[in-house]
Amino acid sequence: MEPMNLLSVSEFLLLGFSSQPRMQLLLFAVFLAIYLAILFENSLIFVLIKIDSHLHMPMYFFLANLSFLDISYTTTTVPQMLLHLLSKKKNISYVGCIIQMYIFLSLGITECILYAVMMVASSWVGGFFFAMVHTGVTMRLPYCGLNEINHFFCEVPAILKLACADTRVTKVVVFVMGVILLMTPVFLILVSYVFIMVASLRISSAEGGLKAFSICTAHFTMVTLFYGAAMFMYMRPASSYSPERDKYFSFFYNVVSALLNPLIYSLRNKDVKGALVKLMGLLGSFPSFRRGEVEQGGAGTQDSWYLLVMEQF
Ligand SMILES: *[C@@H]1O[C@H](CO)[C@@H](O)[C@H](O)[C@H]1NC(C)=O
Repeated sequence: MEPMNLLSVSEFLLLGFSSQPRMQLLLFAVFLAIYLAILFENSLIFVLIKIDSHLHMPMYFFLANLSFLDISYTTTTVPQMLLHLLSKKKNISYVGCIIQMYIFLSLGITECILYAVMMVASSWVGGFFFAMVHTGVTMRLPYCGLNEINHFFCEVPAILKLACADTRVTKVVVFVMGVILLMTPVFLILVSYVFIMVASLRISSAEGGLKAFSICTAHFTMVTLFYGAAMFMYMRPASSYSPERDKYFSFFYNVVSALLNPLIYSLRNKDVKGALVKLMGLLGSFPSFRRGEVEQGGAGTQDSWYLLVMEQF
């Protein structure tokens, strides 16, 4: 990358998804609807788990934390993207960019670790720590001249493209972090699912086995979508980085996963459904719902994934 001048960049421009006014209006409407749906679903899950004492156990704390994370980390990017779709000014200050990058990474990494270990506290600590490393290695590079980010928010691979210095070392660090933070969780989750599949084969009724299998498939699709898109962004040779295409991948772990998570993990769970019906019963006058037997959730990864699958009957 050739420096055009030696002045440091004081702000960046986020090009976003489109520059055509009509298209921008359409995207605004679609993204706004998606964002509102994300807020609604995830706060519903969060509130249900907070107010229903039957749901005060590790697996549901995991789901509540997941919903809280999904709201927070879409909120670090989507409202700004919506504003930029409506306005001609698409700039973000240098400091604003660092802050956005850091918060987004912290929450994103927390989510990556959370899926793998399901231990809430360690995920948050890990997320905020690793994000510091990531943001640090990216922002210690000089940025001068070029300041147009072909992306919808300040994300590491898109920013690195603009650095006016040798980025090889930084890219190696980003790659190694990707291996640790993406490959390890995927491996742990795969192992958990092998155990669950084996357990579901032992379910005596064919219908039960089939149901467990279909739930596993749904979870597995979500995990693939989330980690697959993130791996694609953070774990490959920099030469293959194409901003024009990559922002769509980023959109998957940013927005699509937050939209689908509650539907896949929480709202199919019979106790969460029970709590929902009960809440509606309190609000209106729906007949109260008979709850199924509630098993005590374990804190281990395999136990929790197991319960997440088996509790959906
Ligand atoms: C996350 O889980 C912990 C339990 O480990 C719980 O105390 C906390 O309230 C949860 N946080 C949110 C935001 O749901």
